[in-house]
Amino acid sequence: MPTPHIEAQIGDFAPVVLMPGDPKRADWIAHTFLHDVKQVTAVRGMLGFTGLTKNGIRVSVMASGMGLPSIGIYSYELFSHYGVEAIIRVGTCGAYQKDVKLRDIIIGQAACTNSGWLHDYDLQGGIYSAISDFELIEHAVEASRKLGKEPHVGNILSSDTFYCVSADLWKKWADLGVKAVEMEAFALYTNAARFNKKALAICTVSDSFVAEGILSSTERQDGLIDMVNIGIATAEAYMNKWHKQ
Ligand code: HPA
Repeated sequence: MPTPHIEAQIGDFAPVVLMPGDPKRADWIAHTFLHDVKQVTAVRGMLGFTGLTKNGIRVSVMASGMGLPSIGIYSYELFSHYGVEAIIRVGTCGAYQKDVKLRDIIIGQAACTNSGWLHDYDLQGGIYSAISDFELIEHAVEASRKLGKEPHVGNILSSDTFYCVSADLWKKWADLGVKAVEMEAFALYTNAARFNKKALAICTVSDSFVAEGILSSTERQDGLIDMVNIGIATAEAYMNKWHKQ
């Protein structure tokens, strides 16, 4: 039976899902990095696929859309209805620190937010620390090092806004050691906690608040390829440990 936002049947998704923001990127990941690919959902164009890695491990890829509300909906339905056990976000982020360079890999150990999304939990003014899964972090760090890329592991900001009115507000987060900004991890980590599941955000740095310069399209694509390879290796390590096929 489908959910309001996903038309797949139960069993169509693997226990682990890679989750980029962009549906076209989900399509590209599925058809570039997997074989025997089946499209399992396309409601609102939010594409989802399941296939096999080159090592024969069954994994899914589904787009989240942009922002906490969007990934909040899709991760909720995957965790609560489709039996998905782990979601690995693969996305881009903007660097807040000088040592975080374009194309670097950031592993979101925890996520802060400026979003009202958490208000639904009515924590009476309390602030929830959204954290990722330690075992997934370990797998991702190992995979990144194998590719010759030392990842940054730390705190990220999941922001409600891309175009901020207060031009210098980011510096307050940077002063607290936050490494980079994106727009989804906080909701993903919180939903994983709610359902006792696992989640991690692996991001490639596409822009910087502290350094000049932008990536050429080739550099951008190479950064994405590294990130997806790390995501797939992390998914495989997770599957090999918990879901021996
Ligand atoms: N802000 C928010 N999200 C992002 C950014 C950014 O600068 N870059 C990539 N994702």
